Amino acid sequence: MEKQDIRICCSLGDEPARIVRSKDYDRLFILTDENTELHSLPLLKEALQDIPFTPVSIPAGDLHKNIDTLSSVWTALSQGGASRKSLLLNLGGGMVTDLGGFAAATFKRGIRYANLPTTLLSMVDAAVGGKTGINFCGLKNEVGAFCPADTVLICTQFLHTLDRRNLASGYAEMLKHGLISTRAHWAELLKRQPGDTSDAGQLTRLIEESVRIKERIVSQDPYEKGLRKALNLGHTVGHAFESFTFHTDHPALHGYAVAWGLVCELYLSARLTGFPTEALHQTTRFIHEHWGHLTFSCDDYPALYSLMLHDKKNTGGTINFTLLRDIGDIALNQTAGRDLIYEALDYYRETCE
Ligand SMILES: NC(=O)c1ccc[n+]([C@@H]2O[C@H](COP(=O)([O-])OP(=O)(O)OC[C@H]3O[C@@H](n4cnc5c(N)ncnc54)[C@H](O)[C@@H]3O)[C@@H](O)[C@H]2O)c1
Ligand SMILES: [Zn+2]
Repeated sequence: MEKQDIRICCSLGDEPARIVRSKDYDRLFILTDENTELHSLPLLKEALQDIPFTPVSIPAGDLHKNIDTLSSVWTALSQGGASRKSLLLNLGGGMVTDLGGFAAATFKRGIRYANLPTTLLSMVDAAVGGKTGINFCGLKNEVGAFCPADTVLICTQFLHTLDRRNLASGYAEMLKHGLISTRAHWAELLKRQPGDTSDAGQLTRLIEESVRIKERIVSQDPYEKGLRKALNLGHTVGHAFESFTFHTDHPALHGYAVAWGLVCELYLSARLTGFPTEALHQTTRFIHEHWGHLTFSCDDYPALYSLMLHDKKNTGGTINFTLLRDIGDIALNQTAGRDLIYEALDYYRETCE
């Protein structure tokens, strides 16, 4: 997979205009959802100066990351006269960068695209790494393609209009990157409030470090044959928590479920692969303090266990975990039996008190 050109800044300036002008294209399209059309497009428009483009807007939210919305983007490209030489800018969170990336990967067998992520989660995760796709038949990211963006422009200026919950959701993925990288980066993340954007310089630097961690892992294993699974830390239990809340009045944002999943998977790491208990307790306290508590009882354990068993990353009926021996010391392809998983769920509930 080709390497993405990733640029990071805290103010747009003339960077978008420079990026667009450096590319050889005939028509420019900008994809937004209804929220980024309102909050982020005016900033980008100003930064593009007088460069003409065709706007394309789609409904917001993961429920719309589907074939109908994809089809509407293909239609807009087609009716707007897009050719193989056209350029698509995806301006939005992971929903827009995933769907827009897949539209670009497939339209006329592939046109070039750039991502301008506007949520913290898409800045440190969704917009980098080349995975694109849509949900299909009720399954998340069921259809997609590996297709890297030409350029990813990460600008923290976009975060000023993002709400605290979405900031905290993205910060959970940063914490995950901290855990799989170095003690220093992890410790620095634990000193901040997840929703705090007041120190733009510091936040931009931390985002940059987070992105580089993901980029390094993806460059060594772009198609997820091995090391890329490190990025799944917290996600086996996290996805079960996410699905568990899906049909309730309060569905969890992805990053919240990952944060809660991290508590359980670090517990498993302490029991199975020697993860230090002091780092387990520190991280657990930090997560409880900032991501609140998921309420469930032991009656829910079988349902949660069954959700983990059906995770698409499993093979041969065993639950696959990415665990840690220590911060930055990754243990791939670990398994745990039902009793130990129940123990990890006990640990989550006991530490909520
Ligand atoms: N491709 C990958 O590697 C990868 C990795 C992680 C997640 N994802 C995908 O990313 C998606 C989740 O991404 P997300 O959390 O960014 O969700 P999202 O794109 O749905 O954005 C969350 C909400 O914030 C709004 N929003 C976006 N930017 C805003 C801004 N600057 N100001 C105000 N509101 C804004 C959106 O309209 C939406 O309502 C999921 O579909 C997930 O599958 C992909
Ligand atoms: Zn995630």
